[in-house]
Amino acid sequence: MCGIVGIVGNQPVAGRLVEALKRLEYRGYDSAGVATIVDGRLERRRAEGKLFNLERRLAEEPLGGTIGVAHTRWATHGAPTEANAHPHFVEGVAVVHNGIIENFSEIRDEMTAEGAAFTTETDTEVVAQLLAKYRREGLGRREAMHAMLRRVTGAYALAVIFEDDPSTIMAARSGPPLAIGYGQGEMFLGSDAIALAPFTNEIAYLVDGDWAILGRDGAFIFDNDGNRVERPRQISSAAAYLIDKGNHRHFMEKEIHEQPEAISHALGHYVDFLRHEVKPVTGEIDFASVPSLAISACGTAYLSGLIGKYWFERYARLPVEIDVASEFRYREIPLNPASAALFISQSGETADTLASLRYCREQGLKIGAVVNTRESTIAREADSVFPILAGPEIGVASTKAFTCQLAVLAALSVGAGRARGTISAEEERELVRHLCEMPRIMSRVLNTIQPAIEQLSRDLSKCRDVLYLGRGTSYPLAMEGALKLKEISYIHAEGYAAGELKHGPIALIDENMPVIVIAPHDRFFEKTVSNMQEVAARGGRIIFMTDEKGAAASRLETMATIVMPTVHEIVAPMIYSLPIQLLAYHTAVFMGTDVDQPRNLAKSVTVE
Ligand code: F6R
Repeated sequence: MCGIVGIVGNQPVAGRLVEALKRLEYRGYDSAGVATIVDGRLERRRAEGKLFNLERRLAEEPLGGTIGVAHTRWATHGAPTEANAHPHFVEGVAVVHNGIIENFSEIRDEMTAEGAAFTTETDTEVVAQLLAKYRREGLGRREAMHAMLRRVTGAYALAVIFEDDPSTIMAARSGPPLAIGYGQGEMFLGSDAIALAPFTNEIAYLVDGDWAILGRDGAFIFDNDGNRVERPRQISSAAAYLIDKGNHRHFMEKEIHEQPEAISHALGHYVDFLRHEVKPVTGEIDFASVPSLAISACGTAYLSGLIGKYWFERYARLPVEIDVASEFRYREIPLNPASAALFISQSGETADTLASLRYCREQGLKIGAVVNTRESTIAREADSVFPILAGPEIGVASTKAFTCQLAVLAALSVGAGRARGTISAEEERELVRHLCEMPRIMSRVLNTIQPAIEQLSRDLSKCRDVLYLGRGTSYPLAMEGALKLKEISYIHAEGYAAGELKHGPIALIDENMPVIVIAPHDRFFEKTVSNMQEVAARGGRIIFMTDEKGAAASRLETMATIVMPTVHEIVAPMIYSLPIQLLAYHTAVFMGTDVDQPRNLAKSVTVE
């Protein structure tokens, strides 16, 4: 998703703006640009594709100036061309924007009828056109900004500079996050604290509806009604995170290997490692008394929620209503206001998830946020925040955030079971003991399965389609395996409930179709093996992910069998995440795709 940076400084800014954009690369983008004011004139450099193209442009034609704004664009309205790349200039106004101006076509038609000449296909250009028009009509910069904000609707984070004021950046937020960074004689603006980390760790997030004027010595913030407001300054922890790959080829590889540590860290917040008990961390959500639970999220986060549903229903006997966030609020589900709702989001900014959260809030439910970013909008709007403590996830494909979400949901469901009296103290201790052992098992798996997975990936990289099957919690995991493979290798993949195979997808099975079966030796094992037999009988090539017992029990011929340690079923989804993540990763590496920033994808999806 688009990234915004701005600096009103006392030294040249172009290089620093591009460095900050690099820290936002993880969000996904397909063009980039930077604008500064040089000798009283707006200047810009833009380029399609990755930031090194923009750097090359800047090396050919350097850009001076001590004030500037910069942007990575993830195309929504208009192709990812240089002409559509931000910053957009209209008559001495430069604008960068993240989000969607929903009424842009109406404004564009109206202004075109008045004689305005639009030069891009973007929704953003209406912002620059409106500001230029209001200035022509005699409004000051601040009044023009205020009038423009009253005219546009939709989701936006905006940064604006005016050619006739080389000491001010104006910013506004309605939806996507925007942080102000406080420096020494310099002020900064960024889509998140990670972008600002090299400059300052003292930041304040604008609240929805806020707009701000940044000068070199500080910022004035205004609310929706134009009243001066203060937003709390906080010391961001983002600076503490080293945004580099260490000795890994990709962030995704690094993040896969960080999982044992990340999960330990996450679990430490929720369980007592010595007493093997769940800590009382549920805040305003009383799992003991809620009649049901609603869960909503998108993509990988939704799949972790789906696994969570199995746990909450099994351990806490709590009925769970779950759907992808883009459908959830449109279904008009009859929700019980006495219930609680959990929203799962790595970024904490996903527009659909946020909209579902607001929908549930309107229905009177207590809101819990399972997030990685505590400063995020979803966290701020929740009654209780359940941090997953995974650390920054830079690879676009979610890995450690997924398993940390699972660890948190597992701990919460066991705690809920205890609070509701559906599991005994002894069962709680047993389940928590297994959770506590998980990081150690994960390390062992990471150290042992790589050679087998790499070999298998070589074969998989030649395939066109792949099917994943699973039963119980292995079913959402099968969907996650398929999602991971398709998003980074671009191989078509689908995840199915193993029992559904014969109701349709079995028609796809032939000798060219690898079928990845995730089947620990659990209570569903025999049934899943029957489904495997259906595949084998039709010549399908089986890749079997199971444990020692499962491998011994199945006599079927497979293309490969990945043997995992025997684990308790509450930890199996996290442990079996490792081979499915590694398989997708190594397959993508063999295929030479852009693993950390796959085509068309964005890390933080702030549009619906
Ligand atoms: C897939 C992936 C996405 C995200 C989804 C939700 O690897 O990362 O499917 O899970 O876009 O994002 P968050 O968790 O930030 O709400």
